[in-house]
Amino acid sequence: MDATATVTPFSTLIRTASHEQHTEAETSTFMSDLLGGRLGVDAYTRYTEQLWFVYRALEEAAEALRNDPVAGPFIQSELMRSTELERDLAHLRGENWREGLEPLPATAAYAARVAECARTWPAGYIAHHYTRYLGDLSGGQIIRDKAEKTWGFERKGDGVRFYVFEQITNPAAFKRGYRELLDGVNADDLEKQRIIEECKRAFALNTAVFRELGEVFPLSA
Ligand code: HEM
Repeated sequence: MDATATVTPFSTLIRTASHEQHTEAETSTFMSDLLGGRLGVDAYTRYTEQLWFVYRALEEAAEALRNDPVAGPFIQSELMRSTELERDLAHLRGENWREGLEPLPATAAYAARVAECARTWPAGYIAHHYTRYLGDLSGGQIIRDKAEKTWGFERKGDGVRFYVFEQITNPAAFKRGYRELLDGVNADDLEKQRIIEECKRAFALNTAVFRELGEVFPLSA
């Protein structure tokens, strides 16, 4: 094989391969309407609810994967978001936030796929881990800023705590470290290819959630 074929770092491969899906997610009608300030706080709340189901799946599985030879190095407590989401939801929905909370069908499918990967394919779990946490550390900060301005949340306070990584003081350095973890992932080329495919699936699952949210919160136009 041509030696250069294996030179591209895995972190670059996965970013490049998911670039198109990223644009699609970023420019989805729901995201555009939400970040364009065209939707009410009820839409933001419903979106946050969906995130809670996804992060619960990601993080309930985390403990069991901590010593896994492939996914283990990715499990880092400073990334965990469930507690923050629960505080945000208590603020958005009230103390009894859990009552009557149901995932949209697309969210249930997304969470089920995360749980399935965690249970049966730790390398696939990495794809989901990357898609969410590296995104939250990046574009998530733009979303926080818009949410604070649009719905008047206290800066980095209740309602937007999901986007605040208290224990990560230098996100750029953290992301560099994360990319190094990706580059050193304990998987052969075929398995890396499968992880990339799962990452595309993770993006598609996110886009499907946006689509359903868009149906629940259409613009009256
Ligand atoms: C309006 C919504 C979004 C905006 C404005 C946004 C913006 C960004 C920006 C600016 C970056 C680059 C940061 C950097 O180079 O350090 C980024 C990276 C990323 N975003 Fe998003 N994003 C959005 C939605 C999403 C969604 C829905 C997902 C997936 C669930 C996602 C996943 C990612 C990932 C995985 C990265 C890291 C790419 C890499 O460096 O490997 N983003 N985003």
